[in-house]
Amino acid sequence: MATDWKHYTPHLPELIDDPYPAYDWLRAHSPVHHVESEGIWAVSRYADIAEVVRDDKVFSNDEGVGYARNKAGLGLTSIDRPHHTTLRRQMLQHFSRGSVGQHKARAEALLNELLDEVIDVPGANLAQKVSMPFLARLVGEWMGIPPGDIKFVNDGATAASLVMAGDFSEEPVKQLASFGQYFDAMALRQEAARDAGAFCPGQLRTLSDALFTPTPDGYELTHDETTQMLALLAVGGNETTAQFLSAVANFLAERPDIFETIRGDRSLVPAATEELLRYLSPVQGLFRNTLSAYDLNGTVIPADVKVLLLYASGNHDPSHYENPGEFRLNRFPRGVGDADHLSFTEGIHKCLGAHLARLMIGVFINGLCDRVKTIELTGPMGRSHNALVRCIETLPVHLHAA
Ligand code: HEM
Repeated sequence: MATDWKHYTPHLPELIDDPYPAYDWLRAHSPVHHVESEGIWAVSRYADIAEVVRDDKVFSNDEGVGYARNKAGLGLTSIDRPHHTTLRRQMLQHFSRGSVGQHKARAEALLNELLDEVIDVPGANLAQKVSMPFLARLVGEWMGIPPGDIKFVNDGATAASLVMAGDFSEEPVKQLASFGQYFDAMALRQEAARDAGAFCPGQLRTLSDALFTPTPDGYELTHDETTQMLALLAVGGNETTAQFLSAVANFLAERPDIFETIRGDRSLVPAATEELLRYLSPVQGLFRNTLSAYDLNGTVIPADVKVLLLYASGNHDPSHYENPGEFRLNRFPRGVGDADHLSFTEGIHKCLGAHLARLMIGVFINGLCDRVKTIELTGPMGRSHNALVRCIETLPVHLHAA
């Protein structure tokens, strides 16, 4: 008999290895589920999640997307319209598909440097040796973070992600506080540099500089807003993508047939990228909070509660995707043009870094295809318990050179 998941909470240890049976049960039996022990509501069907993310008048971001009911959270993710539109417009041009393309050559060089260290080294931890530094260094350089600080920032991003996921234990909370102080100090330095004429809107040195120039509407961000935006870019850029790349490597190791097919036909990389994003769903879910009561498909969610949107469950909803548990290279044949998965969410908060993430994923898959013949798993994968992002801490592999 199938397990009953009435006791579901995102923190159940048994979800670390495989959350999908719980999502199957939720979608079938309690698609708008009151998690009484945590005082939250969990939404698991694709259509319901899509409805919620498009109604930002009821489902607000003003308390952030994590567990804490925090009005001063992580920049864009914690702001509603109309202010959200003003701040997002400042960043949009830097994250367009065309703009992020300028990072491709640097990403390829960086990946090659990291792969040099692990190819044909049995037992190399791909998560720590490749995925993490690949993202941390690329985004860090772009943001103007000094090389010596990149590891600290990366660890801070991991702590921020844990606290968002409801881990309020001493270590991550302490680390998050130092992470906040780091960006507070960086914002002060940036403000002084701007006031001394070190950069201006037409002549930016780094992505961070853009935050210290007026938005297209002429708004100047407050000190706190710039600090939060810097932290958001570091968290968004590091944690989700790095975790996802490790999951991709693990998947390609477990499915050598698919690795071989992609190696033989690189035009499949965009389609593979989108199906991997759906199938592996790095972000399990994130929150909104209700500004008024709302009838979602027959269940009334009360006002003033946190609502967890289970993007990973929506991505595996059989009423939206045929055989969702099957990996199909032809599910989104035109790549991003067909993709309707929820991994970057939809609506006004759709991931700002989606094009950059896709670029990094493409560079990573192509890099593995160029330089590696087979990916052998040499030991058990180690996941850390983050209730909102699926995290891989250790992935021991032997990358056999092509
Ligand atoms: C596979 C990689 C990634 C995944 C799965 C991902 C996922 C997401 C999701 C689900 C959201 C929406 C949060 C919500 O529900 O409100 C989001 C927002 C955001 N992401 Fe990403 N992300 C990725 C990579 C990146 C990268 C590389 C960056 C930047 C360097 C980035 C920056 C952001 C920002 C700034 C937002 C806030 C957008 C807003 O609220 O308007 N992300 N991301």
